[in-house]
Amino acid sequence: MKIVTKIWEIRQEIQKATNKNNTVGFVPTMGYLHEGHLSLMRAAKAQNEIAVASIFVNPTQFAPNEDLEKYPRDLERDASLAQKAGVDLLFVPAVEEIYPNGFNTYIEVCGDITSKLCGKSRPGHFKGVTTVVSKLFNIVLPDKAYFGQKDAQQVAVIEQMLRDLNYDIETVVCPIVRESDGLALSSRNVYLSEQERKDALILSQSLLEAEKMIQSGNQYVHQIKDFIWENIRSAKSATIDYIEIVNTKTLEDIDTIKGDVLIAIAVKIGKTRLIDNLKMEVL
Ligand code: PAF
Repeated sequence: MKIVTKIWEIRQEIQKATNKNNTVGFVPTMGYLHEGHLSLMRAAKAQNEIAVASIFVNPTQFAPNEDLEKYPRDLERDASLAQKAGVDLLFVPAVEEIYPNGFNTYIEVCGDITSKLCGKSRPGHFKGVTTVVSKLFNIVLPDKAYFGQKDAQQVAVIEQMLRDLNYDIETVVCPIVRESDGLALSSRNVYLSEQERKDALILSQSLLEAEKMIQSGNQYVHQIKDFIWENIRSAKSATIDYIEIVNTKTLEDIDTIKGDVLIAIAVKIGKTRLIDNLKMEVL
């Protein structure tokens, strides 16, 4: 695996690697890799000749009051994990490489898709995500890009951007990877204390119970929401940010549990904001 930090270098390496019609699978990340990221990297390598990953803690997707400074970083460990997962090229640019002096162009997907759920509590977040993802796509020119289902809204927003801006890139969305007790993997899980780690299980447990309610025929959005709300409130350190039930692709509100259903939740456990979701196809 080759590690490069400059845009000209990654372009050169990709050009060399793709002159035999090789396809490129790309996994953009912010590092501090866990099994969720590694599953994306393995899929990228299995489905393409060349697997490229990036590690870049993108400042434009953090609000001033968020955890940009303390976001966990460990490049040496990440590089070793990425290599084992089959990554051929690892792009690790500095902030000035992506946002040089004078940078002044942003990509913003407008409307409900970015202004609700996480977009409501983190204004500007998705503008930062689409700007950096768009730049990374222009640099790497991948055939396929790999994202985790855990960031369901991010997936919907990026897919809208790809359609709207005519990018010829296919997204591959890989399932949420969980600890054996159900907690969805996240780089931010390291912030949790021992007690908070236990309390955090309330997210996946509530989604699992909601799934059972739906499977046994409950189609009432408000009943499912109320149930999740009450359940999560029972955990001492939990503060609910949102519990939403929407259409998976458009993120529009739904009246009944039918079709492509996404139950998306964001909860602060102590000071750590966690997200989780459940995607279902209900006939
Ligand atoms: O999901 C993430 O880690 C980030 O939002 C992404 C897609 C790498 C953009 O910075």
